[in-house]
Amino acid sequence: MTDNDSKLKKDIRSLLKEKKAVLLAHNYQRDEIQEIADIAGDSLGLSQAAAETKAEIIVFCGVHFMAESAAILSPDKKVLLPNLEAGCPMADMVTVQKLREVKKTYPDAIVVCYVNSTADVKAESDICCTSSNVVKVVGSLNGKNQVLMIPDMNLAKYAQRFTQKTVIPWKGFCPTHHNFIKEENVRETMKEHPKAVFMAHPECTPEVLNLAHHIASTSGMIKFAQECSHNEIIVGTEIGIGYRLRKGNPEKEFYFPSKEQICPNMKVTTLEDVLKALEDEKHQITVPKKIQVRANSALEKMLSVS
Ligand code: 13P
Ligand code: SF4
Repeated sequence: MTDNDSKLKKDIRSLLKEKKAVLLAHNYQRDEIQEIADIAGDSLGLSQAAAETKAEIIVFCGVHFMAESAAILSPDKKVLLPNLEAGCPMADMVTVQKLREVKKTYPDAIVVCYVNSTADVKAESDICCTSSNVVKVVGSLNGKNQVLMIPDMNLAKYAQRFTQKTVIPWKGFCPTHHNFIKEENVRETMKEHPKAVFMAHPECTPEVLNLAHHIASTSGMIKFAQECSHNEIIVGTEIGIGYRLRKGNPEKEFYFPSKEQICPNMKVTTLEDVLKALEDEKHQITVPKKIQVRANSALEKMLSVS
C-alpha cells in the first residue's frame, strides 16, 4: 500500500462520516475498496443493506445495476456510483422490447428476473432473485408451472435442478463465469490439489457446477470457506472474492483455476473515484418514478421471501 493510498482511505472515511454516507462494496471490488467499506457483500446482502440504511448518501462500489437497485429500494437517498463505466455485460443481454416479445410466446410463465438487469427490465418482471435466493424464490411461486428466467441461462439451469416447474432460460450469461471458468481448468486444478474442495458460483456452466462440492453466491462461498473443515479450496468465481477469503481464513489455501477469472467492470472503480464522487456528490443514479415503482415491487417481493 502506498502513502497516497492510505491518505485516500483516510480522507474517504472522514468524508463518509461528515456526510452521513455509507460505503457499500461488492465482494468482487478491488481489495482496497473492500477494506474501507462499511459493508461488503453479495447482491442480496447489499440490496438489503441499501433498503435498510439510515444514511443519507449511499456510495455504491459495484456495477451499475447494483447502484440502480439501491436507488429503486431507497428512492429518497442519494445513490452514487463512483465510476460510471462500471456496467454489467450480462445485464445488457436483455431489453424490455425483447422481453415483451418473448412474454407473448410464454403467456403463462412467471418472469423471474436476476438482479443483474436494468431497472426497466425489472419493472417488466414479476419477481427478482439473486444467486443466493434463486431456489427460494422459484420455490415460493405458486400456481403457474412455467418460469421464464432472465437473463442468465446458467442460473436458470441451476434453478431447474430444484423445481418441478419448467424453467425457460434466457440466452444471457456472465462472460467472466461462462467463458473463463472452464471445466478443463477446474479438472486440472483438482488434479494438482487432490485434497481441495471446489466451490462455484451458479453463473458457471452446468459442466463446471457438476464438479462442485458446494454452489453458492459470493457471500455463501465466503461462509462455506469459513465453516468447512477443508484447508484447501478451489474457487469458481471472480478473483476479487480472494480478499475476504484470505482475510477470514489466513491458514487456508485458495486456488483459482484460471488467471482470467476477472470482471473488468468490477475493477474500474478506484479510491480516487470514490473520493471524487463523494466530494462532489456526483454520478448519482436515479430511476424514473414510473419504472421505480414497478421495479421496486419485483425487488420487494424478492426481499420478502429472502
Ligand atoms: P453475488 O455476489 O450476488 O453472488 O453475484 C455475483 C455477481 O455476478 C455480481 O455481479
Ligand atoms: Fe456482470 Fe459477470 Fe461482472 Fe457480475 S461478474 S458484474 S455478472 S459481468
